[in-house]
Amino acid sequence: MAKTLLLLPGDGIGPEVTQVSAQIAQWARESGRIDVEIASALFGGAQIDATGEPLTDVTVAAAKAADAVLLGAVGGPRWATMPYDRRPEAGLLRLRAEMEVYANLRPAICFAPLAGASTLKPEVVAGLDILFVRELTGGVYFGEPRGIETLADGQRRGVNTHVYTTDEIRRVARIAFASARTRQGRVCSVEKGNVMEAGLLWREEVTALHAAEYGDVELSHMLADNCSMQLVKNPRQFDVILTDNLFGDLLSDTAAMLTGSIGMLPSAAIGDAGRPGLYEPIHGSAPDIAGQGIANPCASVLSLAMAFRHSLDAGGLAASIEAAVGRVLDNGLRTRDLGGSASTADMGNAILAALADGDI
Ligand code: IPM
Ligand code: MG
Repeated sequence: MAKTLLLLPGDGIGPEVTQVSAQIAQWARESGRIDVEIASALFGGAQIDATGEPLTDVTVAAAKAADAVLLGAVGGPRWATMPYDRRPEAGLLRLRAEMEVYANLRPAICFAPLAGASTLKPEVVAGLDILFVRELTGGVYFGEPRGIETLADGQRRGVNTHVYTTDEIRRVARIAFASARTRQGRVCSVEKGNVMEAGLLWREEVTALHAAEYGDVELSHMLADNCSMQLVKNPRQFDVILTDNLFGDLLSDTAAMLTGSIGMLPSAAIGDAGRPGLYEPIHGSAPDIAGQGIANPCASVLSLAMAFRHSLDAGGLAASIEAAVGRVLDNGLRTRDLGGSASTADMGNAILAALADGDI
């Protein structure tokens, strides 16, 4: 039976980079590499402009019914002054929650020809291969109470709540341990248990789960502030980094710079086995360069590859796409973020040509 892929291009550079992934998915379909139906829907600011809300119930239903959802990016200055709960970003958080994709896999891989593109010395980042497993549907992003209130003396008070339960910690930790088994077998769990109870609970639960079920995996713990330092000091010490929603957001952006450009980093958000996954580049909508056709499409294309691997049962196709991106970089083609002058379309055409070549 045909699988279904739902595209949510979103805002800013989202539609430009998703267009390249759409072409690659079409190529895969037309060349008989995969039986997939491709649909598309508005999301984020583009959806707000059309209907007043960032995510409609119709789109939520379509996302839940699909096998994989590929998102572009959401948000931009045009919607930044809207009430908080109606902004594009609120639509993204709702989509993650509705799809129950609680584990966000963010690989930070330094492609060999890009070692010189990082702001860090090439010898520090060459060969880098870290997998972040970021908790995605809990923590301070979703905790209650939250809001801004006015106090009796006229001051205002902003509140967010950092909260985790045993189950929320254990289910994402399982994905980190299982991922480590397919890699170097090492998990570093990151929190601030020295100042936060929810961080202490995180450490205790991860330790207990490890002892009970994952003794073959090496587990270490690190405080989040130290992790941010170690990531720029000696990033290759890490294999899998397991962390919460907020620290995962911050630390994965840091890791992005180790790979040369945030324009290279894909992500996969997954939940329980058999449920649809949500795939998105980790870069944002980049309003400063939107509409110019110069954005790097690699993060979107590599996110599509992750969708093929994790949700569409097409691991071989995923590997071909990753190899095609590697070959194009080997040949020296670079978008602006990597110091080159190739356009989004140039990069997309080169990836398609490498794929059509057939020997990868
Ligand atoms: C990310 C982004 C999002 C997040 C924003 C756009 C809500 O920064 O996916 O890393 O904070 O999770
Ligand atoms: Mg982020």
